[in-house]
Amino acid sequence: MTGDDDVLTAALAEFVQVFDDVCDSNPGCLGSAGTLSRVLNGQASTEVRRLVPLDERRRLGAFFTPHELADKLADPLRRVQGKVTVLDPCCGAGDLLLAAARALEDPVRRGNASAELAGVEIVDEFSRVALMRFELLSRTLELNVAGRFNVGDGLTARDLDNATHLLLNPPFAAVPSDENCRWAGGKVNGAADFLARTVVRLKAGVEVHAILPDVLRSGSRYRRWRSFITERLDLDTPEPTGRFDRWTDVDVFILRGLTRYMTTDPSPYEWGPSTAGSTVGDRFDVSVGPLVDYRSPQEGPHVPYLVAKNFPVWGTIAAVERTRRFSGRLHQGPIVVIPRTSRPDDPYRARAAVVSDPRGIAVENHLLVLKPRHGGLTECRRLLRRLRSQPVNDWLDQVIRCRHLTVSAVGSIPWSPDEDRVR
Ligand SMILES: C[S@@+](CC[C@H](N)C(=O)[O-])C[C@H]1O[C@@H](n2cnc3c(N)ncnc32)[C@H](O)[C@@H]1O
Repeated sequence: MTGDDDVLTAALAEFVQVFDDVCDSNPGCLGSAGTLSRVLNGQASTEVRRLVPLDERRRLGAFFTPHELADKLADPLRRVQGKVTVLDPCCGAGDLLLAAARALEDPVRRGNASAELAGVEIVDEFSRVALMRFELLSRTLELNVAGRFNVGDGLTARDLDNATHLLLNPPFAAVPSDENCRWAGGKVNGAADFLARTVVRLKAGVEVHAILPDVLRSGSRYRRWRSFITERLDLDTPEPTGRFDRWTDVDVFILRGLTRYMTTDPSPYEWGPSTAGSTVGDRFDVSVGPLVDYRSPQEGPHVPYLVAKNFPVWGTIAAVERTRRFSGRLHQGPIVVIPRTSRPDDPYRARAAVVSDPRGIAVENHLLVLKPRHGGLTECRRLLRRLRSQPVNDWLDQVIRCRHLTVSAVGSIPWSPDEDRVR
């Protein structure tokens, strides 16, 4: 055992102890309603952040869902009827299943539904805490809902066979894709892998409700994953919900769908808003700057070299001053360039500048390059006006909430007909 393992073991033991101490009491003995609410809501997340170092949490994928988001995810369970089995195959300390229990309270009490909750979790200590918290909630609500919490691998657990509903917030860290993976090769986002491997094991007619990183909805790298999921789930419109929590700088969305029989034709499905008229991509060739500074050898002629640093937002670069040796692809002005780094709360999502320098320019890969198909400098200036508008901010906020603009997101921006009249 390494020193790191010892630290983790001790941290997880203390994590269990915290809940052992509080959950053992009757709800009435817990003191204030605030204490009870903390134990059942944010405390598992607070304690795991306090006790388990960040790199270990990343490795485990231990990011527990805040209760507002968990309640939002579980909301459709308020309307269930008949016998339901709600499964979380990577249940952590049980936050999604606690939200499920709260949502099921009404239909169960009215006699409209009977329910069983099932959690699978690979870390024994988390699973134990999930059970303790579930029992405390059941006692508090005096709720007749059965709960089963098993330690194991949710990707292979038999529990999937009986599920009627799946709640999921899988680990997001990158994992190697399976050698039989049909939608990617190399390392992939763990959430994409977990959901793809889970949906293929579910029977038809299971409701899936998942919290996923926005890159799966908007990233061009996940296009094939999206087709794979669309073939297997009859999907509702994805709901971007913003940042996962105050401490985790990842934007997420909720995906809801019903597993379908593979024989049914997938209905057309839009993962993001669709553009009816013409788009920026129809009028400009959009690409990523080809020069990766640390990887591109200092070979070939000295050429003007454009970088994202000290970028003159909304300005015009008449002559690129910096130079570098480069033997790869060059771009000649007039072009529009956009730094790829962009966040949903930035005042402008696509900050741009026109480059009128007509020489061949090496553009670094932190910039997107937009070359007008017609109209030269005038068309570039028209694009700048368009990008500097609230409708474009709103569009990009819907299309892409992760921190990097993609070629497809920028290409999808609607080209307002008004822009044609402004000459
Ligand atoms: C992002 S957390 C979410 C926990 C819980 N569902 C929630 O929303 O609060 C992911 C959890 O998955 C667990 N996990 C990772 N891989 C797993 C696997 N193969 N099977 C079961 N659990 C797994 C981690 O230990 C972690 O507790």
